[in-house]
Amino acid sequence: MSEKIAAQDTCVLVTGGAGFIGSHTVVELLQGGYRVVVVDDLSNASAKVFDRIRTIVGDEAAANLTFYEADVNDRAALSKVFDEHQPDRVIHFAGYKAVGESVSKPIEYYANNIGNTLTLVDVMREHGCTSIIFSSSATVYGDPDSLPLTEKSPKKPATNPYGWTKWMIEQILTDLHTADPAWNVVLLRYFNPIGAHPSGLMGEDPKGIPNNLVPYVAQTAIGKRDAVHVFGNDYDTPDGTGVRDYIHVVDLARGHAAALAWMNGRSGVEVFNLGTGTGTSVLQIIEAFSKACGHEIPYVIEPRRSGDVTANYADCSKARELMGWEAQFDIDDMCRDSWNWQSHNPDGYEG
Ligand code: UFG
Repeated sequence: MSEKIAAQDTCVLVTGGAGFIGSHTVVELLQGGYRVVVVDDLSNASAKVFDRIRTIVGDEAAANLTFYEADVNDRAALSKVFDEHQPDRVIHFAGYKAVGESVSKPIEYYANNIGNTLTLVDVMREHGCTSIIFSSSATVYGDPDSLPLTEKSPKKPATNPYGWTKWMIEQILTDLHTADPAWNVVLLRYFNPIGAHPSGLMGEDPKGIPNNLVPYVAQTAIGKRDAVHVFGNDYDTPDGTGVRDYIHVVDLARGHAAALAWMNGRSGVEVFNLGTGTGTSVLQIIEAFSKACGHEIPYVIEPRRSGDVTANYADCSKARELMGWEAQFDIDDMCRDSWNWQSHNPDGYEG
C-alpha cells in the first residue's frame, strides 16, 4: 500500500504535459488542487499552451504549476526535477505518436518511447517515487475478435513500432511491480481522443499534414485542405467506413484525475479502458462535423490504409465501477469543441 495523500499535498509530475492530452490533464489536475510539474521538450508542442492553461484555471491554481523544458531521457535534468519537487506520482505522456512515421523510424521510436520510460522509472526509483499512470492505447488490442473490448480482451501483436512501444511499456511497468510490489501502476488504454477544451483556448495542434481523422476534417472545414480522404468504404460496418470509439479529450483528462484519486493509497497494476462505449464511423464523423461548422465538408473515398482495423469500441464499465468515471460528452460536443478551437486558432498555438 502506498501512502494516502490529499490532493493539495500531492505533487504530480506530468511528462509531455504541453501536448494535446497532457495539457488538458494539467488543467483538470490544477482545478482539482494538485501541484503539477510538467517536463516536456516541446518537440511536438508549444510553450504558449501554458498561458492558455493559466487563463483557464486562474492565477491561484496556476501558481501550483511549474514547467521544465527538458527531454525525459535527459537523466540529469530529470533527477534535478525530482530533487527540487519530490513528485509523489507521475503521469507519463511523453512519447512519439505518429503511427506511420514509426514504421519508417523504428529505432527513433523504440529509443525515445522505451528509452525515456526506462530513464523515468529508474529516476523515480532512486527518489522513492513508485506511483505511475501510463498513457497506453487501444492499439494493444490489435484487430479484435469481439466487441466491445474489455480490459480482459487479449493483447494482440501490434502492427507498427508505435503500437509495440505501448505494448512493451505496459509489460515493463507490470514487471516492475512484480519485482517490487510497492509499485503502483495504472495503465490507461485510450480509444480515440478528439475534441478540444470547451473554452476554445486549447486543442490539438498537429504539425504538418494531420495523420488522424478529426484534425484532418477540421482543417478541411476551415479550407486548409481540399477534401477528407476516407480510407476505405468496403469494411464490414453499417456504412462501410471504419468505426472507432471517439472520446472527448476533457473526458479523457478527467479519467486521469479519477485514476489519481483511485490509486491513492494503493499499490498494484490496474488497466482501464477510457472510451465512451459507442462506435462512430468516418462518415458519421464528417456529418457531425459538417453540422458543427455549418457547411458541407467535401470528402473522397480512397483505398483502405494499411494497418487499420475495421472497428473498435470499449466496454468502460470497469472505470465506472472502480473509479466512478464515465465519459460525459457525445460526438456532437466533440465536433463543436474541435470546430470552436480550429476556427478561433486556425494556425494552432503559434498563429
Ligand atoms: N481515417 C480516414 N482518413 C484520414 C484519417 C483517418 O478515413 O485522413 C480513418 C481511419 O481509416 C480510421 C478512422 O478514420 O478508420 C480513425 O483514424 P485515426 O487515424 O484518427 O485513428 P486510429 O484509430 O487509426 O488511431 C488511433 C490513434 C493511435 C492509436 C489507435 C489505437 O491515433 O495512436 O487509435 O486504436 F494507436
